[in-house]
This record gives sequence, C-alpha cells and structure tokens, in this order.
Amino acid sequence: MLQEIKDKFKELYEQEPLVVRSPGRVNLIGEHTDYNDGFVLPAAINKEIYFAVAPNNTNTFRAYAYDLQEGGEFDLGQVQRSEKSWANYLLGVVAQLQQAKYEVKGFDLVYGGNIPIGAGLSSSAAVECGLAYALNHIFGFNIPKFDLVKMAQLAEHEYAGVKCGIMDQFASMYGRQDHAVKLDCRSLDFDYYHLEMADYRIVLCDTQVKHNLASSEYNTRRQECEAGVALLQRHYPQVKSLRDVTVPMLELHQEEFEPTVYRRCTYVVHENIRVEEACQALEQGDMKTFGEKMYASHRGLQHDYGVSCPELDFLVDQAREMDSVLGARMMGGGFGGCTINLVKLEALDAFIQSMEEAYKLQFGIALKTYVAEIVDGSSLVEPSQI
Ligand code: GLA
Repeated sequence: MLQEIKDKFKELYEQEPLVVRSPGRVNLIGEHTDYNDGFVLPAAINKEIYFAVAPNNTNTFRAYAYDLQEGGEFDLGQVQRSEKSWANYLLGVVAQLQQAKYEVKGFDLVYGGNIPIGAGLSSSAAVECGLAYALNHIFGFNIPKFDLVKMAQLAEHEYAGVKCGIMDQFASMYGRQDHAVKLDCRSLDFDYYHLEMADYRIVLCDTQVKHNLASSEYNTRRQECEAGVALLQRHYPQVKSLRDVTVPMLELHQEEFEPTVYRRCTYVVHENIRVEEACQALEQGDMKTFGEKMYASHRGLQHDYGVSCPELDFLVDQAREMDSVLGARMMGGGFGGCTINLVKLEALDAFIQSMEEAYKLQFGIALKTYVAEIVDGSSLVEPSQI
C-alpha cells in the first residue's frame, strides 16, 4: 500500500515525496468521557493512512485520495469547505494552520490507507493528524505535537461538522507500540500503560452498520451532560464539568433531575471511575478485572447513556457467553461501528468463527473482524521502510 501511494505520487507530480503514516485507534475504556473533561484509555492500531507529500512552489495544493481515486486542486488563498467531503478533512487542517498564522505554501499530496471508513476507528482523525504532521515537517513549522492534536480536533469541528472530543486525534498522534495511553482530558496529562498481550488479543467486531442517529445524538448527549452540570452548579459552584461530580452528589439531588439527564450523568461519573480502576488492574496484570470493567462500561452505554444499538448489544451478549472472552463493549460514539473484545489467544480463531456465524444468522450481515496490533502514533516513514 505504502509503495503504491508513493508510486502514484511520482506518477502524478514527478517528484520525490516525504512519506508519513498516521494510525486509527481503539479505545479500551472511557467512552463519552473526553468532552466531559474525564479520562480515556485509547491506543493506536495497525490500521493506518499513508501520506506522500512535497512542496510544489505554487499557491495551491493538489490532493489525490487514493482509495477513492479522486483528486482536487485547492487555492490556498481562499480555503473554504468543499463539496468533496473527503477534502474537508484536509482543508480543515490547512485552515487551522493558517488561522494560527503559519504560512502554508503550495504542496502536492497523495493519501490512502486501510482504516475502514465508518467503523468507528477514527479514519478522519488519522487523516487530520497525518496531514498536520506532514505539513509541520515539510514547512519546518516546529509546532509542538499537542498543538497539532488540537488543530486536528478543530478541523473536525469546523470542516467536518462534528463537535468531537480530543481522544481520537490524541490517540492517533500519541499512540505508542504495545501501550494504551490514559489521557486526563482536563489537564491533558497522560500516562502510558504497557499492554501485556502475550496471551490475549484485541479483536474488533465490525457490525457494518452506522445508524444515522450517530452525529445528532452525539451532540444531544453533550447537551444532556451540560444540563446536568448546570443543575449541580446551583448546589456546588465549584462543579465545572461532570469530571467534578461524585456519586453522592448525584444521588443527593436525584429528584431534581429530568430522569434521562440523570442516567446520562450517572453513566459518565461511573465511567470515569471505571477508567481509574481499569488502569489499576492493568498495572497489576489483572486482565480479568480489566475485562469486567469493559462489560460494565457497555452496560452503562447501553442502558444509561443510550448510544448502543441492537447489533452492538448482540455482539457483546455473544461475547459474554464465551469463557475465552475477558471483556467486550461497544467502542467510540456508538449507534454502529465496532465492538472491542479482549480474547484469549488460544481461542482466537474459534471466537472469530463463532461471532461471524452468530451475526450472520441474526442479522444476515457478514461480520468483519480485525485483530488489532498496538502501534506508534503518527510518524515519518523512512525510505528503507517502504
Ligand atoms: C467519538 C469522538 C470522540 C469521543 C468518542 C466517544 O469517537 O470523536 O471524541 O467522544 O466518540 O468516547
């Protein structure tokens, strides 16, 4: 794939490119907590987007989306949203750099990869982070990596129209091989946790569905969380987000809440606690407890936060029946995409086969599965690695 992208670049633009890779992500636990100033535990995976890029000494950028076999040319003097939806992730990054007063000169680009689109593995974050990383490099901007993450996130807000938290872009940029990274989405402090995977594998089961509720409900959840914060602030002025809320605070004021808002808030408060507990379990090498936290997270997402769907619930229920699975839950925004499963290596093939059969029987859909390897975040690819 890498070679093909590089070859295409040379064919189209007749020069030698710089090559960058940028991964998708999984999230082990800590869902819908990032925009509540809470904790997340993602990791970058071996599903990646590759970029071949070089300056072109003009005032336009030319981009070619290898997977779609579609190209476009964009005026850097007039960056705005495009009708080509794929281009908006690129334009959004360029716009952020320009707003921060970096002089983006003309460049040529070919990009493509193997992150399934719409599966909740953050292909868009990988595109945004990869381009930000590449432009930072070819133009020598020297922008600190965390600022690139924030620019990538704002690109998603302003050009893709999704008010996402910071998790996906952070994971794509800061991932580390064989580690999950716990991010405190308030202080932006982070710690790496080694994943002892000799006996386990992370398996993603892709429902192949994406219910169109996803983005509207995402924004509704954000509002519901804000409503809960506003209510509690009347009693506890120090509360700035659900991160500051404890279980006793919630319980004491339960009757004042609209019941749905109460359940949303309960989920978030408990999910933050679960991330802490899951990280302790990782430190102790206690994968059994870790897996139990994953199941508990799913129950919360299903019943309290209301972002699951029948396909995801079915897959988690199936996994729960199998002794070879330590934990499973829906992953990402919800309403489709993937479940993440922690599976004993010795039973890997049997797990995959049984999930595929059950899903086919229930929904008539061919389940896709991916065994995720945990890799480094965005980086340059040396010519010798291609
Ligand atoms: C999407 C968003 C993330 C995060 C998750 C839910 O992936 O892009 O910022 O909010 O949903 O945890």
